[in-house]
Amino acid sequence: MFRRKRAERQALASVQARGPRVVAVANQKGGVGKSTTAVNLAASLAELGLKVLVIDLDPQGNASTGLGIDPGRRTIGTYQVMSQGTPADSAVMETSVPGVWAIPSTIDLAGAEIELVGQISRENRLARAIEPLVGTYDIVLLDCPPSLGLLTVNALSAAHELIVPIQCEYYALEGLGQLLRNVRLIQQNLNPNLRLTGIVLTMYDARTKLSEQVVAEVRRYFGPRVYDTIIPRTVRLSEAPGFGKPITEYDSSSKGARAYRALAAEFLEREATDLPLPTEEPRSVIAVSAQHDEPGFEEDDEGGEEA
Ligand SMILES: Nc1ncnc2c1ncn2[C@@H]1O[C@H](COP(=O)(O)OP(=O)(O)OP(=O)(O)O)[C@@H](O)[C@H]1O
Ligand SMILES: [Mg+2]
Repeated sequence: MFRRKRAERQALASVQARGPRVVAVANQKGGVGKSTTAVNLAASLAELGLKVLVIDLDPQGNASTGLGIDPGRRTIGTYQVMSQGTPADSAVMETSVPGVWAIPSTIDLAGAEIELVGQISRENRLARAIEPLVGTYDIVLLDCPPSLGLLTVNALSAAHELIVPIQCEYYALEGLGQLLRNVRLIQQNLNPNLRLTGIVLTMYDARTKLSEQVVAEVRRYFGPRVYDTIIPRTVRLSEAPGFGKPITEYDSSSKGARAYRALAAEFLEREATDLPLPTEEPRSVIAVSAQHDEPGFEEDDEGGEEA
């Protein structure tokens, strides 16, 4: 109880000192844990008393679903805000989590990449649209689609920070060179304030050598930008979106919930450091033999009591 109160005070002090933080969660690789991280980080931050807004920039709408916003209720969303001039505050919806609000995505967003191409200041649409409401929240999380297209560019133009989830699987580093080049281009041309705050290792399976090797490789390449917290692969985390709940609500004492709470604490502590981006191309040195490990779910993660 006391520990919780202290964590809440620290969280509040951290956001008061730094002002609102707009954070893009991006990696053009699909299925690495972007939406899972956006939803569960948001919920863990809200547990500490912070006001969090999640903006769903993926036409798949996984973050909207994970926060309990049924597709039937998604009439106004990110597309209308970016393309139709709908005021962002009128698109904000309550979620299944107290303290977390969301601008959902609708399927129209799938056409936005193409539609925006011919429009003026197409890369800044999101930044401009959300500017009036950013100050209303402590943290704004932008869940990006698995591409480096215009939607992700809009997110990176609007954000102060970038978090990149990396799955503990083979080819983890693949494509990150391209992502970093884009970040550099955006820093130079659109948003000099953008910082790579953190790399989150996701879906770690302690039983495989491969997971361990990926952790070592990612830490070697990204150094201190990698969060100490590693998100384990657990059945509970994959089940939660089906119930429209983040893990903190679905199974509050599970390993996955504890991991995302630890990530939230680290996220609040960490300064938006100005470490230069790595310049050399990421190259995997993981031996192919590691592939023969069978990745799977850990057995001891279900509904466990808090240790
Ligand atoms: N730590 C985890 N343990 C188990 N399953 C997970 C974990 N993290 C994510 N998943 C599951 O893996 C799948 C991909 O995760 P998620 O949707 O978060 O990735 P993504 O990067 O947002 O994907 P996309 O690129 O399609 O947007 C989902 O089914 C999700 O429930
Ligand atoms: Mg996603």
